[in-house]
This record gives sequence, structure tokens and C-alpha cells, in this order.
Amino acid sequence: MRLVVAISGASGAVYGIRLLAELRRLKVETHLVVSAWGRTTVQVETGHAYQDVARLADACYENDDLFAPCASGSALFDAMVVCPCSMHTAAGIRLGLADSLILRAADVTIKEGRRLVLLVRESPLSSIHLENLLALSRLGARIMVPVPAFYHRPQSIADMVDNTVARLLDQLGLFLEEGQDGTRVPRWGDAQPR
Ligand SMILES: Cc1cc2nc3c(=O)[nH]c(=O)nc-3n(C[C@H](O)[C@H](O)[C@H](O)COP(=O)(O)O)c2cc1C
Repeated sequence: MRLVVAISGASGAVYGIRLLAELRRLKVETHLVVSAWGRTTVQVETGHAYQDVARLADACYENDDLFAPCASGSALFDAMVVCPCSMHTAAGIRLGLADSLILRAADVTIKEGRRLVLLVRESPLSSIHLENLLALSRLGARIMVPVPAFYHRPQSIADMVDNTVARLLDQLGLFLEEGQDGTRVPRWGDAQPR
């Protein structure tokens, strides 16, 4: 499997980093694009430098590099994930702006009929945000929000992050089993706590 992974400047850079680590473990080829504000949130929220995150991907591109493979529909990718996805990036995708690599790659993903998963993060959501997300959903994008589930009794923030990343991977047909690599990603119906 070959994926485009974008990290934009919404809060929740940790989701993008965990996703990249998991995809590496699963031997999925990743082409990473991090927006300028995505780099800021990586630094501010996790303390990691962009280079630390870039090392988790197979290839990295600048957000203004429209020569990158994922800028063209002729380059074959299975899907694209924007994780986390800011409202700015969601709006730009919805409008088909395609003037940065993230927006162009998403535009290509939609026009080629490939899977686009957006882990959107903002709160509260305005009517502008909701209308953009509805339009994207109607275009076939999978809209996910990093809202933690509690039925598996998470013990830590890492548990919550892992669970959201596991559900995101479900959307790509990559199904993690509980306990793999020390993660707690139980599914409803698997030995529920009582
Ligand atoms: C620390 C930090 C946290 C932010 N959190 C969010 C957020 O959760 N959601 C959002 O839509 N924008 C958030 N923003 C604002 C975006 O970074 C801003 O709209 C930016 O233009 C997004 O650009 P990008 O989509 O190209 O990354 C945040 C900015 C900073 C600096």
C-alpha cells in the first residue's frame, strides 16, 4: 500500500506522528507533506522537530513542491490521509484550490476517486466548518473527528490517541489487533470490561 500523509496546522500533531509510526510498522509506503503551521504544531505540542517526524516517512515533500509525485493523478497512491486536518485545509480542499501540495494532492485524490480520510479538529465547529465538511463528505471523503471513546476504559492519553489512530486505520482497511506493539485498541465485542 502507498499513502499520502499530510499533517496540517490543527491541534493534534501527535495523531499524525502515531499514524506515521504505525504505518511504518505495517510496512506501508508513506509520502509525507507537513504544512508550515503543521511544523509549528509538531514543535509546540510534541517537542519534536520536523526532522524527527520526517524520518518516520519513506519520502517527504515541501508543501510548495507541486512537482512531487502525489501532485499528479498519474502517480499511483491508494489513499490520502490528512491527520490532523485544520479548517483552513478542509476549506481549501472543499474549494479545490490546489495551490499547495496538500491541497493539490487532496484534489487529485478526489478526482481519481481514491479514498481521502480527514481527521478534522476544531471546536466549536461553525456553520462554515460544518458546511465545508458536509460538502467534503458528499464528495466521498471520510470525515473523522478525534473524539475519544471511553468504552474500553482508556488509562492514558496514549490509549486515547492509539484508539483514534486504530479507527483511522480501519478506514484504510488496515485492521490492528489489540495488544500489537503494546497498543490498547479494543473493539466493541472483544472482552468488554464490566
Ligand atoms: C498551536 C496551534 C493550534 C491550532 N489548532 C487549530 C485547530 O485545532 N484547528 C484548526 O482548524 N486550526 C488550528 N490552528 C490554526 C491553523 O494552524 C491555521 O488556520 C493555519 O492557517 C492552518 O494552515 P494549514 O491548514 O496550511 O496547516 C492552530 C494554530 C496553532 C498555532
